Amino acid sequence: MRLAGKVAMITGATRGIGLSIARRYAGEGAVVLVVGRDQERCDAAAASIRAAGGVAYGIAADVSHIAGHKALVKAAVAWAGGVDILVNNAGVVDIEPLDRITERSWDSVWNTNVKGLVFLMQAVARQMISQGRGGRIINIASESGRRGEKFCLSYGASKAALIHITQSAAYELAEHGITVNGIAPGVVDTEMWDKVDRQLAGLYGRAPGESRRMAEAAVPLGRFGRPQDIDGAAVFLASADADYITAQTLNVDGGNVPS
Ligand SMILES: NC(=O)c1ccc[n+]([C@@H]2O[C@H](COP(=O)([O-])OP(=O)(O)OC[C@H]3O[C@@H](n4cnc5c(N)ncnc54)[C@H](O)[C@@H]3O)[C@@H](O)[C@H]2O)c1
Repeated sequence: MRLAGKVAMITGATRGIGLSIARRYAGEGAVVLVVGRDQERCDAAAASIRAAGGVAYGIAADVSHIAGHKALVKAAVAWAGGVDILVNNAGVVDIEPLDRITERSWDSVWNTNVKGLVFLMQAVARQMISQGRGGRIINIASESGRRGEKFCLSYGASKAALIHITQSAAYELAEHGITVNGIAPGVVDTEMWDKVDRQLAGLYGRAPGESRRMAEAAVPLGRFGRPQDIDGAAVFLASADADYITAQTLNVDGGNVPS
């Protein structure tokens, strides 16, 4: 088991990519802290991990509410004795033309994808430094952060910022033995892509599912991603095999974006 003895906090872990990483981490021996906005869903996800033989706790927190971060870290210390791995996975998407972006939709995307992520990194990094045993921070970016894309201005820019933030935080935290890396998924079959498909259908006048089919046809490896496709990179970056890797963002996208 590659993560035995580690405590991993994973945000947005009640479904999709976050839940898949949480399950895999538990299978690798980590104690998993499932963070999401709804306590019942966190508890259900944690219970499903325990039913499979893992150790997991659910902690409700909206990562865009910075005032709650201290309590979140306190809960992690109380439940599991600290945090060794933070996966900043919680994310929000809105596909909309420049002309229709509102302050509200912009804030919704940026408050979770960027502001919440930065301040949670700050709170957890403080805890990791005080523990004195290093740590791992993994930020879930996106292929949308690699280049501009039509109708994807606010989400894409938030993920580009996240890639930049990953590098800056890595340089600051290196002296504490904390690595900071990112993973940039391509197109992954989750509720998030269901929303993207619905929004693209509205914008282009396409039938439901057509944008998804087009996106799948464009993937060099010939299929849509599954949440589990992200797990391997998430385990690797959290494991001792990645001890000498920091400030990197790894594309896990079936070949969509060459690095
Ligand atoms: N699905 C894709 O194609 C894809 C591609 C690239 C990157 N990503 C990124 O992967 C991550 C996971 O996405 P997913 O596809 O599993 O999406 P999803 O919508 O299925 O899951 C996102 C999770 O984050 C939670 N969340 C959202 N805002 C939150 C907040 N403020 N506080 C706490 N939890 C919050 C949601 O409740 C949900 O559980 C996101 O950061 C997303 O941007 C997804």
